[in-house]
Amino acid sequence: MSEELVTYEVRDGVAYLMLNRPDKLNAMSDALSDRMMALWAEVERDPQVKVAILSAAGKHFCAGADLEATDFSGALPGIRQHQVYTSNGISRFKPVVGVVQGYALGAGYALAVCGCDVVIASGDALFGFPEARAGVALGPPQPSSYMPFKVSLEFMLLGWKGGQLMPADRAYSLGLVNKVVPREALMDEAKVWAHQLTLIPPLFVRSVKAGHYRAAAGHTAQSERDYLEYVLPQAVSDDAKESLAALRERRDPVFKGS
Ligand code: COA
Repeated sequence: MSEELVTYEVRDGVAYLMLNRPDKLNAMSDALSDRMMALWAEVERDPQVKVAILSAAGKHFCAGADLEATDFSGALPGIRQHQVYTSNGISRFKPVVGVVQGYALGAGYALAVCGCDVVIASGDALFGFPEARAGVALGPPQPSSYMPFKVSLEFMLLGWKGGQLMPADRAYSLGLVNKVVPREALMDEAKVWAHQLTLIPPLFVRSVKAGHYRAAAGHTAQSERDYLEYVLPQAVSDDAKESLAALRERRDPVFKGS
């Protein structure tokens, strides 16, 4: 089980999913993303499961899409890493409690904040969106849609190490996470929330989730209509490739503006 990219266990009505690639800061490879999607389906299918808790092994929750292995060319918005968090309230209705420590970046931020209904973060959690530096085009616009406008702009442009990563207390004050606790208390706190969620009638949870995510999707759908127009020029640019190459080669990028 320890070699699984995501471990899975069901106890007392709660499904425990844990990202398990700590040596790569749980970066989301295609295989990890596929496994997550299979497990989300299993959570929905299994009548024993009332609630899921999503956590991550090691010091960090997730450093986003695997920059080494993911093919970002022209695949957006359909890359697997984005599909892992977009089905909430659409094909996933059981509540998910996220347990976040350390970095939650890019698709890892989206998995935590958009993919989990409740987020419990440790005081040392850092949220960000390093796509700007990594040469990765924007995914669907959900990640920032829970934020005030100025914060969203700041986050999408400067959410990388050396820029303006968002600490847990700010994420809490903006309503992006539900509670901040010391790291050692994370899982106990998540279990309390999960247990309380098991006490609610499943149909009630389903209707609240569906209603909330559909309302949020209205805003998203509006943005997605313009998606290709505003993303594509950047996505196919030489500068995007240069950003990714520089990050992989650990050197400063040289931009041409095209
Ligand atoms: N994809 C693939 N591997 C990643 C990764 C990612 N997104 N993020 C980190 N890793 C790997 C590193 O390559 C390194 O592997 P190695 O030990 O085999 O060299 C290991 O995880 C540890 O990362 P490292 O960079 O040494 O840790 P750090 O504490 O100095 O920095 C980060 C941590 C998260 C700030 C830095 O790794 C980073 O900026 N990662 C990229 C984040 C990103 O752009 N994500 C994409 C969003 S779409």
